[in-house]
Amino acid sequence: MKNILVTGGAGFIGSAFVRLIVNDYPNYHIVTFDKLTYAGNLDNLQPLKGAQNHTFVQGDIADLEGVRGVLEEHDIDTVVNFAAESHVDRSILDPEAFIRTDVFGVYRLLEAAHQHGIGRFMQVSTDEVYGDVESGFSTEDDNFLPNSPYAASKASGELMVRSYHVTYGMDTVTSRGSNTYGPYQYPEKLIPFFITEAADDRSLPVYGDGMQVRDWLHVDDHASGVLKVLENGKSGEVYNIAGEDIRHNIDVIKLLLDIMDKPQSLIKYVRDREGHDRRYAMSAQKAEKELGWERQHTFEAGLKQTVQWYLDNEWWWRKIKTGEYLEYYKKQYAERLAQAESTS
Ligand code: NAD
Ligand code: DAU
Repeated sequence: MKNILVTGGAGFIGSAFVRLIVNDYPNYHIVTFDKLTYAGNLDNLQPLKGAQNHTFVQGDIADLEGVRGVLEEHDIDTVVNFAAESHVDRSILDPEAFIRTDVFGVYRLLEAAHQHGIGRFMQVSTDEVYGDVESGFSTEDDNFLPNSPYAASKASGELMVRSYHVTYGMDTVTSRGSNTYGPYQYPEKLIPFFITEAADDRSLPVYGDGMQVRDWLHVDDHASGVLKVLENGKSGEVYNIAGEDIRHNIDVIKLLLDIMDKPQSLIKYVRDREGHDRRYAMSAQKAEKELGWERQHTFEAGLKQTVQWYLDNEWWWRKIKTGEYLEYYKKQYAERLAQAESTS
């Protein structure tokens, strides 16, 4: 690996990965390639200002010629694809952008990489491809049973990657990450949304009974897991990157309120997400045993650090929570919260 294209590198997890590599691997040249959708944010790469081994290019993974040009210009040997539409609730309101980027975009990126003669292609995927896991822990050979348009689009993207490996012999690896939290996460996802709302003493809309289960993973552990898979993963293989710390949503929310010293009266139970998966839980044994990947963060310490980061970095999130964000908030929450108020 010398010249790495990181697509979606201006987003939450992609930027953590870019910051990790640019700082720790001065011999690698990183090209961040990002469309800068509502979720892409150059502020996430601000700590790298002036770094000699980092270049930013704005572009769309679905633009074959655009991607090919960048691959050639920067003599890219490795692609790591984080680019995606990533929010389940938005996929329920409007699935089309998800199909365009997470399926068609992945195909176009693969095709450009294939034509270029790429060394290694890595796809960053999600535990949502397994669907609802009633009991036990998903392992890499389990079936796909995706339930939301987002999860189905990610499963489809993964299958395209598999097909390029089997059909054209492309050197590919895939990671499946669990629910990730930490600094620089767009405040639509549960943890940053609730931290920034609670900071302003606003209501926290909990879907359904709040007893859904998620597996929580710190963003820096997710980034180090992706790096392990990229460097040491076997060609054609898939690796789960899990926090192996599963919790009910309501327990996460109460812990967050305790850390922030805010009252539980902010919690409002609202109409559930449509098709809401009840439980995700994955085993990370394969990545741990075969690749030697280790997590560095416990959930309690990671959540405290994350709360502190949002409290210290209002400059980062206050400007996001305007314009398009407020329109989305209205569509997703206004009726839910009004209904909850009228029945409580
Ligand atoms: P994010 O929404 O914060 O960032 C996505 C980035 O992709 C943004 O910078 C956006 O501008 C860019 N992008 C979107 N469409 C693009 C396109 N057509 N061309 C180029 N760039 C485009 O997402 P995230 O939470 O950082 O997730 C990154 C990846 O990890 C995604 O593939 C997601 O499916 C996966 N993942 C996320 C989580 C999680 O909990 N957030 C967990 C497991 C896996
Ligand atoms: O599991 C990995 C996935 O985790 C990633 O692939 C996705 O990109 C990422 O968005 C995330 O999906 P979730 O749907 O699990 O995350 P979200 O933060 O949206 O929600 C976490 C849980 O909290 C889920 O059960 C829904 C619930 N929730 C969420 C929001 C935004 C609420 O109860 N209220 C809310 O307002």
